[in-house]
Amino acid sequence: MSTPTTAAPGAPVVDLDLADLRRDPYPAYAELRRTAPLAWVPSVGRHLLTRYDDIVHAEKLPEVFSSREEGSLLLRTVGPNLLREDGPEHRRLRAAAEPPTRPRQVRDLWAGSFERTAHELLDGIAGRGEADLVRDFAEPLAAANLALVLGLRNARPDHIAGWSRDMMAGNSNYADDADLWLRAENATRAIDEAVAEVVRIVRREPDGSVISTMVHAPDPLELTEIQNNVKVIIGGGVNEPRDVFGVGARALLRRPGVRDRVLADPALWKRVFEETARWISPIGMYPRQLTREYEIAGVTLPAGSRVALVIASGNRDESVFERADEFDIDRPTRPHLAFGGGPHFCMGAWVARHEVSALAWPLVFSRLRGLRLDDSARDQLEGWVFRGLTSLNVTWQAV
Ligand code: HEM
Repeated sequence: MSTPTTAAPGAPVVDLDLADLRRDPYPAYAELRRTAPLAWVPSVGRHLLTRYDDIVHAEKLPEVFSSREEGSLLLRTVGPNLLREDGPEHRRLRAAAEPPTRPRQVRDLWAGSFERTAHELLDGIAGRGEADLVRDFAEPLAAANLALVLGLRNARPDHIAGWSRDMMAGNSNYADDADLWLRAENATRAIDEAVAEVVRIVRREPDGSVISTMVHAPDPLELTEIQNNVKVIIGGGVNEPRDVFGVGARALLRRPGVRDRVLADPALWKRVFEETARWISPIGMYPRQLTREYEIAGVTLPAGSRVALVIASGNRDESVFERADEFDIDRPTRPHLAFGGGPHFCMGAWVARHEVSALAWPLVFSRLRGLRLDDSARDQLEGWVFRGLTSLNVTWQAV
């Protein structure tokens, strides 16, 4: 299959500046949804698909919208892995990795340790009266929890967080920056070594972790397959929970009325989570490649065409979500696209939901009395492939 590197015949061409997208992609997405719901964007080298219904349609046809994108940035960073496979091979890799991330396992195996780690991190900052909750709390929490679920007992949370950042820089390196590739390569080498050591241990002493489950699966995975899957999971398991934590916490701190309602009725934390993930989706888009000619959004795409499913845009589609640009925990429940759809639906959704909405937010808002945003700080939202707060500076009454 050849990969067309230009617009499909009849596809509108829209020039978008990557720096503008990084700053705030939502105005451009609104315009695309209105005027060119499938558009070739030269700076991205792909057709962007931006309406909710079209994205859902594509996700229902994985045999046409393949995840095995040729020359994919993720393949270059990580090597062959479950996220870039289709059909039976994808099912084999996913079945071997998934069991420890199911809701029951999250509750029975991991929730207790997640909670202890959250308390320890808060113990460490409670006396200070000020912190950057992204750097000092959400990121180390997500990294420590991921190390536990993966079984990476030999890696420090700050190393996992750093590897995750460096690999994400590679996965979103659409500008082909040589320094970013180098950072990603150093991170993947370190992960390969750490995983090889853990595999040697769990071969003798199985535990409930993802690595152990892949080693002892009915159809066991090879070392390279395990290493590559772990790299994908590290790439996706730190930044996204961290980002949804930061964005949701800031949304509540800016809306004291909503915050007070949620504190009075903790069942609402689940709604805060789903609405935050919809409103500012931690993963903004991901790629697919057509296995055959297919017509979508009024354009006939030839086989091999590259398409980006822009879920951040689908999640702001006004035909599905009224006043879509507003953060509103009371909006009618409609499934959002933040965890993707189809066979690649996020494997860590229950891990993320539990660590953020059942633990991180409730503990932060109950333990840090008088929590408020630090008005002097400049916490920026940044990114379009991945989007989140660069920092979340807050103050509270130190104890
Ligand atoms: C709020 C947090 C998270 C969000 C918004 C998120 C989002 C996503 C999305 C959109 C996809 C689909 C990508 C595609 O189809 O190309 C995905 C897949 C995946 N996610 Fe997550 N993710 C989150 C947390 C996590 C965590 C905590 C883990 C690990 C414990 C994880 C592991 C994975 C894996 C392994 C896949 C690939 C699944 C497959 O290919 O079958 N994610 N995620």
